[in-house]
Amino acid sequence: MKEYSLRKRVLVTGGAGFLGSHLCERLLRDGCEVLCVDNFFTGTRQNIEYLLTNPSFELLRHDITFPLYVEVDEIYNLACPASPVHYQFDSVQTVKTSVVGAINVLGLAKRTKARVLQASTSEIYGDPRVHPQSETYWGHVNPIGPRSCYDEGKRCAETLFFDYHRQHGTDIRVVRIFNTYGPRMHPRDGRVVSNFVVQALLGEDITVYGDGLQTRSFCYVDDLVDGMVRMMSNDSGFSGPVNIGNPQEFTVLDLAKLVVKLTNSSSKVVFRSLPGDDPKQRKPDISLAIRELDWRPHVRLEEGLLATIEYFRGFPSKSSTPVPMERTRNR
Ligand SMILES: NC(=O)c1ccc[n+]([C@@H]2O[C@H](COP(=O)([O-])OP(=O)(O)OC[C@H]3O[C@@H](n4cnc5c(N)ncnc54)[C@H](O)[C@@H]3O)[C@@H](O)[C@H]2O)c1
Repeated sequence: MKEYSLRKRVLVTGGAGFLGSHLCERLLRDGCEVLCVDNFFTGTRQNIEYLLTNPSFELLRHDITFPLYVEVDEIYNLACPASPVHYQFDSVQTVKTSVVGAINVLGLAKRTKARVLQASTSEIYGDPRVHPQSETYWGHVNPIGPRSCYDEGKRCAETLFFDYHRQHGTDIRVVRIFNTYGPRMHPRDGRVVSNFVVQALLGEDITVYGDGLQTRSFCYVDDLVDGMVRMMSNDSGFSGPVNIGNPQEFTVLDLAKLVVKLTNSSSKVVFRSLPGDDPKQRKPDISLAIRELDWRPHVRLEEGLLATIEYFRGFPSKSSTPVPMERTRNR
């Protein structure tokens, strides 16, 4: 007679990406069966290669803008390119992934009665007028600019999540993710951490825009994944949205100097003029996550950077040279 597994079956869309691969790993460690769905736009097979021999792990190449018929208990919806260079490459597809993709995963959740978590973003606050940003702030977003495909796509996805919840009783969770870094970041994603680390490892100049005194906060990937898992497993009826990020602020210049020190690099920090839309400050208010999920970040920047540097040491080469910094703007 066939034995039925009592283990949770979890779908992770975008599971071959940076955050998704760490989430799959954590869920397998927690004893779940994991179905990773990805179209490999920015994710790679290498990111999840070491999981392929695990009998509880399954990989499916699929684009979430098309419906998916599987039986699952939980869905984490992470599929979407996350950095400006990637999401602006095909902005129409980015909107489709966020909006049509959300409709498809919500339809699946409705049919299977699965709990579904949306990986939303701090970008839904746009160019904020309020610091730090708390979940009650509605944001300040340009609906027609080059970043809008991502910002407005993610905002519409949140709308869909809450409408499915109100209209169909779908069991939803929404987390707003702030800047996260760690091993398996894309070396060409144009983010400030990956850019600085790759530049330092290649011995190239580290490019800082403006005086470098603008601040950023960085959350290590393990802390972020823990926040997502806590949000999914909370049974108190708390749907969010909830900010997940590290509120500790560092100047971009401090980050550059720390990366040079930790990589023992000969790179020099050089300054370029600041682009007009470079935010002065980005910082999450995480009091809601502390109160509702008893979650707070634990990994110190130096510790997380060392793990990230070790990862990038594995393959720095000219082909992993970061995208030109004028397209990245210290984000
Ligand atoms: N990394 C961060 O700092 C950050 C911050 C805020 C929000 N997020 C959100 O977290 C999620 C994961 O981000 P990440 O940093 O891991 O990015 P990533 O680009 O590494 O991962 C996204 C994954 O989604 C896949 N994908 C893209 N479009 C798809 C589609 N139509 N169908 C199936 N798969 C598709 C990609 O191939 C990739 O594997 C994204 O939704 C992103 O918006 C990330």
